[in-house]
Parts: sequence; C-alpha cells; structure tokens
Amino acid sequence: MEQTLTIIKPDGVARGLTGRILEALENEGMKIVGTKMVQLTKRGAEGFYQVHRHQPFFDSLTTYMSSGPVVLAVLEGEGIIERLRQLMGATDPQKAAPGTLRHRYGLSIQENVIHGSDSLDTARWEIAYFFSQMEIHSRPLNSG
Ligand code: RTP
Ligand code: MG
Repeated sequence: MEQTLTIIKPDGVARGLTGRILEALENEGMKIVGTKMVQLTKRGAEGFYQVHRHQPFFDSLTTYMSSGPVVLAVLEGEGIIERLRQLMGATDPQKAAPGTLRHRYGLSIQENVIHGSDSLDTARWEIAYFFSQMEIHSRPLNSG
C-alpha cells in the first residue's frame, strides 16, 4: 500500500494546529500508520531538504525547520501521495486553493504549515529518514 511522509512544520505545531491538521487528514480517509514529535537540528533539516541545497532559500528554510518541534506522520492509502499534495495546496498559501490546508493555515511561502512527499521515490526516502520499520504500523501486530 502506498505511503507518504507528512510534517506539521514548526509554525503549525507552535500555533496549536497539530490536532486540527491530523483530524483533517483522517477526515479525508488518510490512515496514520506512524507518528512522532521531534526537533530537527540544523544539520538534520539540511539533510532532509538536501534536494534544495542550491536554492537561495535553503539556509532560511533549514533554520526555520529546525526552529521548533515538528510532528511527523506516515500516511497510508491508495494514491496517498497525490491526495495529500491536493489537500495541502500550493507551496505559497496565497496561491493555494480555498479549503486546502495551506490556504487555511499557511502564513507565508516558507511558513506553510505542512510538508508532503512529492513522489514514490521521495516518499520512501523521506520515511526512512525518520522512521524505522518498528515505528510503522501498517498491519495489525498479530497478522504474521
Ligand atoms: P514541501 O517539500 O515542504 O512539501 O513543500 P513543496 O513541495 O510545496 O515546496 P518545495 O519547492 O519542495 O519547497 C520546500 C519548502 O521550502 C520553502 N520554500 N521557500 N522562500 C521561497 O521562495 C521558498 N520556496 C520554498 C517552503 O517551506 C517549501 O514548502
Ligand atoms: Mg517539496
């Protein structure tokens, strides 16, 4: 079954939006199969966003992503990668469609409340960056 990684970014956790965002995901039928709260180090954020290392916003992005705790979750479901991206909306909250999470809760193109993996390969890599197999519960424990 397809899985993706989502991150409630530091601005979302700090503003007390964790519950509302997880509820919105579950209301869309997205199954949470792993979750935890962590605070990234600057280096940890740089590793996670290494694909953007040549972007002008890289230093600012990784400083922001390590500025406070984030809530990580692995979501599972058919077409979950694209479904999450649709629910998140465009990177810039001002361009995100009404009803999307970034439109509702995003503050700026950087402080845009939520991350979602953008492809199957990226999702696999991002999930493995944060979660061990023991921390992902995609089957009942007694299913063998
Ligand atoms: P994400 O990876 O966090 O799900 O976001 P995304 O795919 O919609 O956007 P991406 O291009 O991958 O950018 C990653 C994050 O970097 C910050 N950003 N800042 N100042 C800027 O112009 C700028 N552009 C991107 C955002 O936090 C974005 O989500
Ligand atoms: Mg991205």
